[in-house]
Amino acid sequence: MSKIVANYKVNFVDADFKKLLKRMDGFSFKNAEFIVCPPYTSLHIFKNKSVLLGAQNLSSTDKIPTGEISAEMLKDMNVKYVILGHSERRKAFFETDEQIRNKVLKALEFGLKPIVCVGESLQNKKKGETLSVLEKQLNTILRDIYTNELENIIIAYEPVWAIGSGNAIKKSDLQEIVKNIKFILEKMYGKLFVNKISILYGGSVNVDNYQSIISVKGIDGLLVGGVALDFEKLFKIIEGLN
Ligand code: PGA
Repeated sequence: MSKIVANYKVNFVDADFKKLLKRMDGFSFKNAEFIVCPPYTSLHIFKNKSVLLGAQNLSSTDKIPTGEISAEMLKDMNVKYVILGHSERRKAFFETDEQIRNKVLKALEFGLKPIVCVGESLQNKKKGETLSVLEKQLNTILRDIYTNELENIIIAYEPVWAIGSGNAIKKSDLQEIVKNIKFILEKMYGKLFVNKISILYGGSVNVDNYQSIISVKGIDGLLVGGVALDFEKLFKIIEGLN
């Protein structure tokens, strides 16, 4: 079973999501778990449908109320997944690994599955810091999570330089990085639990490169942004995963 998470960011309004829902109607997802992550304002379109629904953020605290959305509110919308720590939020809102960790804990407390985004910047990559950046992010965000919660955690490896750039990672590089992510997780949780955590890749996935990405050992699925806006392309990928 491969996961495909569609991150709609600030794209689309209700009318567009109704079209997506129509496109999904009667489609047999077989081997693909399709998780739709619309903006908060359109979650209601999917609320009472048999759709795997995700949000793009949540508030880690109930103490800063204005404008925030809590885990409880997401639960009430039938949300099952939540993208946390996306690099666009880290950059725009200065989200730290520690804050992302608090959001992960809040998600787990309410039975939501966190999709935790990690990845290096272009500068990190050029300096050869990719693995140390990943280790630091994972060590901070996922430290001391109860092992019985690990199967509810999804890591999305998203190199920042690949997001929206049209430049996806090379298969050989992804192979190496996934191996190392597993190694980091093994150091944190031991061999027995490493494979409980799913690992997705995100960053310029498209119809031409998804097959090579999904064929990488240890990759359990894809996180897509831009390509999800084009239903023909999106469903071509979903069909390919089936
Ligand atoms: P992209 O976005 O597929 O457009 O690169 C992925 C993401 O931002 O998660």
